Amino acid sequence: MTEHIPLVTIDGPSGSGKGTISSILAKQLGCNILDSGALYRILALAAQIHVIPLDNEEALVTLAAHLDVQFISDDRLNTRILLEGDDVSDAIRTEECGNQASVVAALPHVRVALLARQRAFLEPPGLVADGRDMGTVVFPDADIKIFLTASPEERAKRRYKQLIEKGISVNLATLSREIAERDERDASRPVAPLKPAPDAVVLDTTGVTIDQVVNQIISLLNQGKLRAN
Ligand code: C5P
Repeated sequence: MTEHIPLVTIDGPSGSGKGTISSILAKQLGCNILDSGALYRILALAAQIHVIPLDNEEALVTLAAHLDVQFISDDRLNTRILLEGDDVSDAIRTEECGNQASVVAALPHVRVALLARQRAFLEPPGLVADGRDMGTVVFPDADIKIFLTASPEERAKRRYKQLIEKGISVNLATLSREIAERDERDASRPVAPLKPAPDAVVLDTTGVTIDQVVNQIISLLNQGKLRAN
């Protein structure tokens, strides 16, 4: 019998708190983490570097299949991302890269090309997987599935704060419009659209602190919603 590896999926739109919450949760549980959005962002950046148009699905699939990427986590689970040996951890975090990621992520064969790479993150002692389709497509058998939401205004403000803190200059009105466009593209695409799995627990994080959301998820885990080994 194969060993059961505990798995929590956290899906939701941009600014819903997924990234921060997944990272705190992975630290608290001592689990591995998959930031699947980073893979789509890296692919978009690689396409730019190799001058591949974002509508050339065939070339993007080849690029995705051979993507030379490394996630290097230190013992505090801070992750640096290397693309072809270069540190792109900051370069992939711009809104421009997020928008380009959502364009390549709408291509069905590109999504298939990245599936095995995402599933390979499921290793002992467990995994917290963060994305848009973790609970619906990549890990449909997850022990517990969380879908985070928040009002569009709050999500835009959170992203604004994050980008300003990283020293990236942005305009709140432009950012709100770009987030709305990206959400619309992610939610309306025919493959793996952004939506909660039927068995996901939906948590609205509007006006709720990060610690409160983390505690809510931990208490769901403690209620036995995480399948025992
Ligand atoms: O989460 P993040 O903002 O880094 O994701 C960037 C883009 O990658 C999203 O807007 C979405 O289009 C795409 N994505 C996806 N499926 C995932 C994770 C991200 O389509 N599991």
